[in-house]
Amino acid sequence: DWIMGDYIEEAVQKIREQVGNEEVILGLSGGVDSSVAAALIHRAIGDQLTCVFVDHGLLRLNEGDMVMDMFAGKLHARVIRVDASELFLGQLAGVTDPEKKRKIIGGLFVDVFKAEAEKLKASGQGHKGATFLAQGTIYPDVVESGGTKTKKATTIKSHHNVGGLPEQLGLKLLEPLRELFKDEVRELGVALGLPPEMVYRHPFPGPGLGVRILGEVRKDYADLLRRADAIFIEELRNTRDEATGKTWYELTSQAFTVFLPVKSVGVMGDGRTYDYVVALRAVQTSDFMTADWAELPYSLLKRCSGRIINEVRGINRVTYDVSSKPPATIEWE
Ligand code: XMP
Repeated sequence: DWIMGDYIEEAVQKIREQVGNEEVILGLSGGVDSSVAAALIHRAIGDQLTCVFVDHGLLRLNEGDMVMDMFAGKLHARVIRVDASELFLGQLAGVTDPEKKRKIIGGLFVDVFKAEAEKLKASGQGHKGATFLAQGTIYPDVVESGGTKTKKATTIKSHHNVGGLPEQLGLKLLEPLRELFKDEVRELGVALGLPPEMVYRHPFPGPGLGVRILGEVRKDYADLLRRADAIFIEELRNTRDEATGKTWYELTSQAFTVFLPVKSVGVMGDGRTYDYVVALRAVQTSDFMTADWAELPYSLLKRCSGRIINEVRGINRVTYDVSSKPPATIEWE
Protein backbone atom coordinates (compact mmCIF):
# COMPACT_ATOMS: atom_id res chain seq x y z
CA ASP A 1 0.00 0.00 0.00
CA TRP A 2 0.77 3.71 0.02
CA ILE A 3 2.45 3.98 3.39
CA MET A 4 4.53 0.85 2.93
CA GLY A 5 5.57 2.07 -0.50
CA ASP A 6 6.86 5.31 1.03
CA TYR A 7 8.59 3.38 3.74
CA ILE A 8 10.39 1.17 1.23
CA GLU A 9 11.50 4.22 -0.79
CA GLU A 10 12.95 5.82 2.31
CA ALA A 11 14.62 2.64 3.54
CA VAL A 12 16.15 2.03 0.11
CA GLN A 13 17.59 5.56 0.04
CA LYS A 14 19.06 5.11 3.49
CA ILE A 15 20.72 1.82 2.56
CA ARG A 16 22.18 3.34 -0.62
CA GLU A 17 23.60 6.26 1.33
CA GLN A 18 25.07 4.04 4.00
CA VAL A 19 26.60 1.50 1.64
CA GLY A 20 27.78 3.77 -1.17
CA ASN A 21 29.68 1.63 -3.64
CA GLU A 22 30.84 -0.90 -1.07
CA GLU A 23 29.70 -4.49 -0.81
CA VAL A 24 27.48 -6.32 1.63
CA ILE A 25 27.33 -9.91 2.76
CA LEU A 26 24.30 -11.42 4.51
CA GLY A 27 23.66 -14.79 6.11
CA LEU A 28 20.39 -16.02 4.70
CA SER A 29 18.67 -18.62 6.87
CA GLY A 30 15.26 -18.85 5.26
CA GLY A 31 13.74 -17.27 8.36
CA VAL A 32 11.50 -14.20 8.14
CA ASP A 33 13.96 -11.57 9.37
CA SER A 34 16.96 -12.48 7.24
CA SER A 35 14.70 -13.00 4.21
CA VAL A 36 13.05 -9.60 4.49
CA ALA A 37 16.38 -7.92 5.16
CA ALA A 38 17.82 -9.60 2.06
CA ALA A 39 14.88 -8.59 -0.12
CA LEU A 40 15.05 -4.97 1.06
CA ILE A 41 18.80 -4.64 0.67
CA HIS A 42 18.66 -6.32 -2.72
CA ARG A 43 16.01 -3.80 -3.80
CA ALA A 44 18.40 -1.03 -2.75
CA ILE A 45 21.76 -2.22 -4.03
CA GLY A 46 21.22 -5.27 -6.24
CA ASP A 47 24.42 -7.18 -6.89
CA GLN A 48 26.39 -5.25 -4.29
CA LEU A 49 24.68 -7.72 -1.95
CA THR A 50 25.81 -11.33 -1.70
CA CYS A 51 23.73 -13.70 0.40
CA VAL A 52 25.35 -16.75 1.90
CA PHE A 53 22.97 -19.57 2.65
CA VAL A 54 24.58 -22.22 4.82
CA ASP A 55 22.77 -25.55 4.60
CA HIS A 56 23.73 -27.38 7.79
CA GLY A 57 21.76 -30.47 6.84
CA LEU A 58 19.25 -29.77 9.60
CA LEU A 59 16.71 -27.86 7.55
CA ARG A 60 13.16 -28.91 6.84
CA LEU A 61 12.00 -30.84 3.78
CA ASN A 62 12.94 -29.00 0.54
CA GLU A 63 13.75 -25.86 2.52
CA GLY A 64 17.10 -25.27 0.84
CA ASP A 65 15.61 -25.49 -2.65
CA MET A 66 12.76 -23.19 -1.68
CA VAL A 67 15.13 -20.53 -0.40
CA MET A 68 17.23 -20.76 -3.56
CA ASP A 69 14.17 -20.64 -5.86
CA MET A 70 12.96 -17.53 -4.12
CA PHE A 71 16.17 -15.52 -3.83
CA ALA A 72 18.26 -16.70 -6.73
CA GLY A 73 15.34 -17.70 -9.00
CA LYS A 74 12.68 -15.04 -8.48
CA LEU A 75 14.51 -12.09 -6.94
CA HIS A 76 17.69 -12.67 -9.00
CA ALA A 77 19.83 -11.96 -5.99
CA ARG A 78 23.37 -13.24 -5.73
CA VAL A 79 23.13 -16.23 -3.40
CA ILE A 80 25.84 -18.68 -2.54
CA ARG A 81 24.49 -21.97 -1.27
CA VAL A 82 26.96 -23.83 0.88
CA ASP A 83 26.15 -27.47 1.41
CA ALA A 84 27.89 -28.04 4.70
CA SER A 85 25.71 -30.92 5.86
CA GLU A 86 28.52 -33.47 5.93
CA LEU A 87 30.69 -31.15 7.99
CA PHE A 88 27.92 -30.48 10.51
CA LEU A 89 26.73 -34.07 10.77
CA GLY A 90 30.31 -35.28 11.08
CA GLN A 91 31.05 -32.96 13.99
CA LEU A 92 27.76 -33.84 15.66
CA ALA A 93 28.32 -37.59 15.51
CA GLY A 94 28.21 -39.08 18.98
CA VAL A 95 27.25 -35.80 20.68
CA THR A 96 24.10 -36.04 22.78
CA ASP A 97 24.15 -33.03 25.10
CA PRO A 98 21.76 -30.30 23.85
CA GLU A 99 23.98 -27.36 24.76
CA LYS A 100 27.03 -29.03 23.23
CA LYS A 101 25.04 -29.60 20.06
CA ARG A 102 24.06 -25.92 19.97
CA LYS A 103 27.66 -24.83 20.50
CA ILE A 104 28.94 -27.08 17.73
CA ILE A 105 26.29 -25.91 15.28
CA GLY A 106 26.75 -22.22 16.17
CA GLY A 107 30.54 -22.50 16.00
CA LEU A 108 30.58 -24.30 12.66
CA PHE A 109 28.13 -21.80 11.25
CA VAL A 110 30.52 -18.97 12.04
CA ASP A 111 33.48 -20.92 10.57
CA VAL A 112 31.66 -21.71 7.34
CA PHE A 113 30.36 -18.17 6.98
CA LYS A 114 33.78 -16.69 7.58
CA ALA A 115 35.36 -19.02 5.04
CA GLU A 116 32.78 -17.95 2.45
CA ALA A 117 33.41 -14.28 3.16
CA GLU A 118 37.16 -14.85 2.64
CA LYS A 119 36.58 -16.83 -0.56
CA LEU A 120 34.41 -14.07 -1.93
CA LYS A 121 37.11 -11.55 -1.29
CA ALA A 122 39.68 -13.73 -3.05
CA SER A 123 37.44 -14.64 -6.01
CA GLY A 124 37.76 -11.28 -7.75
CA GLN A 125 34.51 -11.82 -9.63
CA GLY A 126 33.59 -8.19 -9.35
CA HIS A 127 34.13 -8.46 -5.64
CA LYS A 128 36.49 -6.42 -3.57
CA GLY A 129 35.12 -8.30 -0.64
CA ALA A 130 32.33 -7.15 1.61
CA THR A 131 32.85 -4.32 4.05
CA PHE A 132 29.34 -4.64 5.49
CA LEU A 133 27.64 -7.51 7.23
CA ALA A 134 23.86 -7.27 6.99
CA GLN A 135 21.69 -8.77 9.68
CA GLY A 136 17.94 -9.06 10.11
CA THR A 137 17.98 -7.61 13.62
CA ILE A 138 14.53 -6.30 14.50
CA TYR A 139 13.42 -3.87 17.20
CA PRO A 140 12.63 -6.45 19.90
CA ASP A 141 16.18 -7.87 19.48
CA VAL A 142 17.63 -4.40 19.95
CA VAL A 143 15.61 -3.79 23.10
CA GLU A 144 16.56 -7.19 24.49
CA SER A 145 20.26 -6.77 24.04
CA GLY A 146 20.03 -3.30 25.57
CA GLY A 147 18.95 -5.00 28.74
CA THR A 148 15.60 -3.23 28.97
CA LYS A 149 13.90 -6.56 28.69
CA THR A 150 15.53 -9.75 29.82
CA LYS A 151 14.91 -12.90 27.88
CA LYS A 152 14.81 -15.71 30.38
CA ALA A 153 15.10 -18.39 27.75
CA THR A 154 18.63 -17.33 26.92
CA THR A 155 19.81 -18.36 30.34
CA ILE A 156 18.18 -21.75 29.93
CA LYS A 157 19.23 -22.39 26.36
CA SER A 158 21.96 -20.64 24.45
CA HIS A 159 20.22 -19.03 21.50
CA HIS A 160 23.27 -17.76 19.72
CA ASN A 161 22.83 -17.80 15.99
CA VAL A 162 25.39 -15.46 14.49
CA GLY A 163 26.50 -13.72 17.66
CA GLY A 164 29.79 -11.83 17.41
CA LEU A 165 30.16 -12.27 13.68
CA PRO A 166 30.71 -8.63 12.68
CA GLU A 167 33.60 -8.25 15.15
CA GLN A 168 35.17 -11.51 14.06
CA LEU A 169 34.92 -10.58 10.41
CA GLY A 170 35.94 -6.98 10.89
CA LEU A 171 32.82 -5.77 9.08
CA LYS A 172 30.51 -2.83 9.58
CA LEU A 173 26.93 -3.67 10.45
CA LEU A 174 23.95 -3.00 8.22
CA GLU A 175 20.67 -3.59 10.03
CA PRO A 176 17.81 -2.07 8.06
CA LEU A 177 15.04 -3.68 10.16
CA ARG A 178 16.26 -2.33 13.49
CA GLU A 179 13.25 -0.08 13.98
CA LEU A 180 10.57 -2.54 13.03
CA PHE A 181 8.34 -4.87 14.99
CA LYS A 182 7.72 -8.38 13.73
CA ASP A 183 4.33 -7.51 12.20
CA GLU A 184 5.87 -4.61 10.31
CA VAL A 185 8.69 -6.82 9.08
CA ARG A 186 6.08 -9.21 7.71
CA GLU A 187 4.13 -6.46 5.97
CA LEU A 188 7.34 -5.14 4.51
CA GLY A 189 8.23 -8.62 3.25
CA VAL A 190 4.92 -8.98 1.45
CA ALA A 191 5.25 -5.49 -0.03
CA LEU A 192 8.69 -6.47 -1.33
CA GLY A 193 7.16 -9.43 -3.13
CA LEU A 194 8.04 -12.26 -0.79
CA PRO A 195 5.36 -14.96 -0.69
CA PRO A 196 3.04 -14.80 2.35
CA GLU A 197 3.85 -18.47 3.17
CA MET A 198 7.44 -17.43 3.70
CA VAL A 199 6.70 -14.22 5.56
CA TYR A 200 4.10 -15.72 7.88
CA ARG A 201 6.07 -18.83 8.68
CA HIS A 202 6.42 -20.07 12.25
CA PRO A 203 9.82 -19.41 13.82
CA PHE A 204 12.48 -22.05 13.31
CA PRO A 205 15.49 -22.28 15.62
CA GLY A 206 18.99 -21.61 14.31
CA PRO A 207 20.21 -25.13 15.19
CA GLY A 208 17.22 -26.44 13.24
CA LEU A 209 16.40 -30.11 13.47
CA GLY A 210 19.54 -30.48 15.58
CA VAL A 211 17.47 -29.68 18.66
CA ARG A 212 14.44 -31.63 17.44
CA ILE A 213 16.27 -34.93 17.22
CA LEU A 214 16.74 -35.91 20.84
CA GLY A 215 20.28 -36.94 21.69
CA GLU A 216 22.59 -37.91 18.87
CA VAL A 217 21.87 -36.27 15.52
CA ARG A 218 22.00 -38.70 12.61
CA LYS A 219 21.16 -38.25 8.96
CA ASP A 220 18.70 -41.16 8.88
CA TYR A 221 16.87 -39.65 11.86
CA ALA A 222 16.80 -36.23 10.17
CA ASP A 223 15.39 -37.75 6.97
CA LEU A 224 12.55 -39.49 8.84
CA LEU A 225 11.84 -36.36 10.87
CA ARG A 226 11.70 -34.12 7.78
CA ARG A 227 9.07 -36.30 6.15
CA ALA A 228 6.94 -36.64 9.27
CA ASP A 229 7.13 -32.92 9.96
CA ALA A 230 6.17 -32.01 6.40
CA ILE A 231 2.98 -34.07 6.78
CA PHE A 232 2.11 -32.41 10.10
CA ILE A 233 2.65 -28.91 8.70
CA GLU A 234 0.73 -29.69 5.50
CA GLU A 235 -2.26 -30.89 7.54
CA LEU A 236 -2.14 -27.79 9.76
CA ARG A 237 -2.08 -25.57 6.68
CA ASN A 238 -4.92 -27.47 5.03
CA THR A 239 -7.30 -27.72 7.98
CA ARG A 240 -9.53 -24.79 8.86
CA ASP A 241 -11.20 -24.11 12.16
CA GLU A 242 -14.89 -23.61 11.49
CA ALA A 243 -15.44 -20.96 14.14
CA THR A 244 -12.73 -18.59 12.93
CA GLY A 245 -12.23 -19.69 9.33
CA LYS A 246 -8.50 -19.70 9.94
CA THR A 247 -6.16 -22.59 9.30
CA TRP A 248 -4.62 -24.40 12.25
CA TYR A 249 -1.24 -23.26 11.02
CA GLU A 250 -2.43 -19.68 11.50
CA LEU A 251 -4.04 -20.50 14.83
CA THR A 252 -0.81 -21.85 16.28
CA SER A 253 2.35 -19.87 16.99
CA GLN A 254 4.76 -22.70 16.41
CA ALA A 255 4.24 -26.33 15.42
CA PHE A 256 6.74 -29.04 14.63
CA THR A 257 7.66 -32.66 15.02
CA VAL A 258 10.24 -34.09 17.40
CA PHE A 259 12.18 -37.27 16.71
CA LEU A 260 12.53 -39.68 19.62
CA PRO A 261 15.32 -42.18 19.11
CA VAL A 262 13.47 -44.98 20.88
CA LYS A 263 11.73 -47.91 19.26
CA SER A 264 8.33 -49.25 20.10
CA VAL A 265 6.41 -52.29 18.88
CA GLY A 266 3.63 -52.03 16.36
CA VAL A 267 1.69 -54.18 13.98
CA MET A 268 1.25 -53.75 10.26
CA GLY A 269 -0.49 -56.27 8.03
CA ASP A 270 0.40 -59.58 9.61
CA GLY A 271 3.82 -58.45 10.67
CA ARG A 272 5.23 -56.91 13.76
CA THR A 273 7.11 -53.62 13.47
CA TYR A 274 9.72 -52.24 15.80
CA ASP A 275 10.22 -48.62 14.80
CA TYR A 276 10.78 -45.07 15.96
CA VAL A 277 8.43 -42.65 17.72
CA VAL A 278 7.73 -39.00 16.94
CA ALA A 279 5.99 -36.37 19.02
CA LEU A 280 3.90 -33.60 17.50
CA ARG A 281 4.17 -30.24 19.24
CA ALA A 282 1.93 -27.22 18.64
CA VAL A 283 1.76 -24.20 20.89
CA GLN A 284 -0.03 -20.88 21.18
CA THR A 285 1.85 -17.95 22.63
CA SER A 286 2.25 -14.21 22.23
CA ASP A 287 5.86 -13.90 23.37
CA PHE A 288 7.36 -17.43 23.39
CA MET A 289 8.28 -16.91 27.07
CA THR A 290 5.21 -18.81 28.13
CA ALA A 291 3.11 -21.00 25.88
CA ASP A 292 0.04 -23.22 25.98
CA TRP A 293 -0.13 -26.47 24.09
CA ALA A 294 -2.67 -26.07 21.32
CA GLU A 295 -6.00 -27.88 21.55
CA LEU A 296 -5.88 -29.23 18.01
CA PRO A 297 -9.00 -31.07 16.84
CA TYR A 298 -8.81 -34.84 17.34
CA SER A 299 -9.74 -35.37 13.71
CA LEU A 300 -6.68 -33.41 12.64
CA LEU A 301 -4.39 -35.33 14.99
CA LYS A 302 -5.89 -38.57 13.74
CA ARG A 303 -5.16 -37.68 10.12
CA CYS A 304 -1.61 -36.72 10.97
CA SER A 305 -0.84 -39.93 12.84
CA GLY A 306 -2.48 -42.06 10.15
CA ARG A 307 -0.55 -40.38 7.38
CA ILE A 308 2.80 -40.32 9.17
CA ILE A 309 2.65 -43.99 10.13
CA ASN A 310 1.52 -45.06 6.66
CA GLU A 311 3.75 -42.80 4.62
CA VAL A 312 6.95 -42.74 6.64
CA ARG A 313 8.32 -46.26 6.91
CA GLY A 314 10.46 -46.36 10.03
CA ILE A 315 7.99 -44.50 12.27
CA ASN A 316 5.20 -46.57 13.81
CA ARG A 317 3.98 -44.39 16.66
CA VAL A 318 2.90 -40.75 16.91
CA THR A 319 2.31 -38.93 20.18
CA TYR A 320 1.03 -35.41 20.93
CA ASP A 321 2.82 -33.22 23.45
CA VAL A 322 0.38 -31.80 26.03
CA SER A 323 2.93 -29.83 28.05
CA SER A 324 2.77 -26.08 28.48
CA LYS A 325 5.64 -23.67 29.05
CA PRO A 326 6.59 -23.43 31.83
CA PRO A 327 7.56 -25.91 33.07
CA ALA A 328 8.26 -27.52 29.70
CA THR A 329 10.06 -25.47 27.06
CA ILE A 330 8.69 -25.19 23.54
CA GLU A 331 11.53 -27.16 21.97
CA TRP A 332 12.38 -30.52 23.56
CA GLU A 333 16.06 -29.65 23.86
P1 XMP B 1 12.11 -22.67 24.17
O1 XMP B 1 12.36 -24.08 23.73
O2 XMP B 1 13.27 -22.07 24.92
O3 XMP B 1 11.96 -21.82 22.84
O4 XMP B 1 10.81 -22.54 24.91
C1 XMP B 1 11.50 -20.49 22.76
C2 XMP B 1 11.64 -20.05 21.32
O5 XMP B 1 13.01 -20.00 20.96
C3 XMP B 1 13.31 -20.88 19.91
N1 XMP B 1 14.62 -21.50 20.16
C4 XMP B 1 15.76 -21.17 19.51
N2 XMP B 1 15.98 -20.28 18.52
N3 XMP B 1 18.27 -20.88 18.52
C5 XMP B 1 17.24 -20.16 18.02
O6 XMP B 1 17.46 -19.39 17.09
C6 XMP B 1 18.13 -21.79 19.52
O7 XMP B 1 19.07 -22.43 19.95
C7 XMP B 1 16.78 -21.92 20.04
N4 XMP B 1 16.25 -22.72 21.03
C8 XMP B 1 14.92 -22.42 21.07
C9 XMP B 1 12.17 -21.89 19.89
O8 XMP B 1 12.02 -22.46 18.59
C10 XMP B 1 11.00 -21.04 20.32
O9 XMP B 1 10.49 -20.28 19.24
